Order: sequence, then C-alpha cells, then structure tokens
Amino acid sequence: MKDSVFQPGHPWLDTEGQAIQAHGGGIMVHEGRYWWYGENKAAPSYKNERVTGWDCRRHDLVGVSAYSSDDLLNWRNEGIVLGPVSDDPDHDLHPSKVMERPKVNFNPRTGQFVMHFHVDRHDYSLAAVGVATSDRPAGPFRFRGTLRPNGADSRDLTVFVDDDGSAWLVHSSEWNRTLYISRLSEDWLFTTGEYYRVFAGQSREAPALFRHRGLYHLITSGCTGWDPNPAEHAFAEHLAGPWTLTGNPCRGPGAETTFGAQSTFVLPLPGQPDACLFMADIWNKDD
Ligand code: GAL
Repeated sequence: MKDSVFQPGHPWLDTEGQAIQAHGGGIMVHEGRYWWYGENKAAPSYKNERVTGWDCRRHDLVGVSAYSSDDLLNWRNEGIVLGPVSDDPDHDLHPSKVMERPKVNFNPRTGQFVMHFHVDRHDYSLAAVGVATSDRPAGPFRFRGTLRPNGADSRDLTVFVDDDGSAWLVHSSEWNRTLYISRLSEDWLFTTGEYYRVFAGQSREAPALFRHRGLYHLITSGCTGWDPNPAEHAFAEHLAGPWTLTGNPCRGPGAETTFGAQSTFVLPLPGQPDACLFMADIWNKDD
C-alpha cells in the first residue's frame, strides 16, 4: 500500500518497511523519477577516543545509499551504490574513514552520473572531496579519486548545476570559516581554479544552493557539530555575489534550531514554480 504522508522527526520507511538510510542527502530528478542519495549510517555510533581536542562522534563508513520514487514519498531502496573498501586501511573509503553529504547529478556532456561527497580521515583532518561516477542512476558508482578543490580544504558540501550547464561545488573551506563556490571542469571530475569566497570568516556550513525565479538562494547552518542551530538564508543575482542575508527562513515552533535539524538540500519541485522542498537532518550523535 502506498503511503500518503510522512512525519518529520519520525522514522520514514521505504517500500519494504525499512527505515530510510539516506542522511546528509540530496535528490536528483532524472527522466521523471526522483533519486535520493545519502549517507547510510547503519553502523554503531562511537566517540573517537583518538581525538582529544573536540567531541568527535562517528560511525564506521557504510557507504552511500540510493532510493528512487515517483512521488517523493514512497521510496524504493536501490541499495548501497558506493560502499567501503575494507581490505586497504589506507584507502580513502576504508571503514575507518568518513564519507558524508553525497550529491549526485547527471552530466549530459559525458552521459555520466557524477557523485561528490565529503571524504575524510577518522579525525576529519583530511578535508577533501571524493568523486565517483556511474552510467546508471542506480549505480554501482566507481570511485574516481579524492581532490582538494583548488588546493583548499573542503568539508560540508553540495553541488549546484546551473541553467547554463555549469556545475559548482559549494563547500566549507578555510577550516570551516568561509564558504567557497568552486566551478567544476566540464566533466565535473575536477575544479578549475575559478572560485568565489562567500560569508568570509562567518563559519557557515551544511550548504543548500538553488535557483528560483532568476535568483540564487543559499541556505546554510552555523558550525556547531551535530547540534542544531538557526539556519540562515541569503540570495544573490550572481554566484559571485554580493549575497544579501535575510536571516532564518524557518517559521513556527522549533524555528530557532531549524526544527532541531541541519540543512542538506533544497529541491525546486518540477512543475510547481513556487514550491521548493527543504531537506534537513535531525542528527543524534549517540545513535
Ligand atoms: C557537522 C557537519 C556534519 C558532520 C559533523 C561532524 O558540522 O555538518 O556533516 O561533518 O559536523 O562532527
């Protein structure tokens, strides 16, 4: 039976009755079907005792899950489309590493589905971007390597594809102090050296960038680890800015903590010119 509603903050079950595992995710629309990619966190959470300077909570790397749907509500599990590499402790995708916030987009120039994600060491000291590609939305994706965008560090990220086909990596850099908007190469596998610094020194992360009625919109969170904080919205005529801040876009009970959640993605809904879907994660660092 198809569901007609889901409740934010409650487990959201897939079409087989299992809790959806697609955190820090993003949604791609391809040939009329929605594809939701996100972190699979089906592994025990623990405090990383090797890190002493801050409260590093993590789980072993499980991989990126994909789900597909024709109504954004009932989601079919398409499985883990990029999994861990268990037999090489030095590999960037070894279970001891970190893989977060995957975003997938279809590049019509190459005919490839390209995935970007935050890849890191167990203590978040690598701060890099993983790239993987597939010929099909359901994967499997092939890991193509790790990059430091324009030589810079990169943690929370998203990817934005503009109307002109250009693709941009939006990522927290300068050790999370400044957000960068970095143009990707035509195959989307590399950065190009062209980038804009946004909200310099303001420590914004969890970026969600989208376009609506000719303006660019950017929703971000503050930097408080797994704990929620107020979201912030800004808009601009050009990606390079200037960006105008409008404050917290959330309204109603819980708005001051983004409803206990942290932004990950905004999907302007196809065929509904003024409707945008905001996706955010309610994190639980203990589980
Ligand atoms: C948050 C970030 C999450 C994760 C976490 C690790 O600030 O948004 O994606 O990286 O830190 O502590």
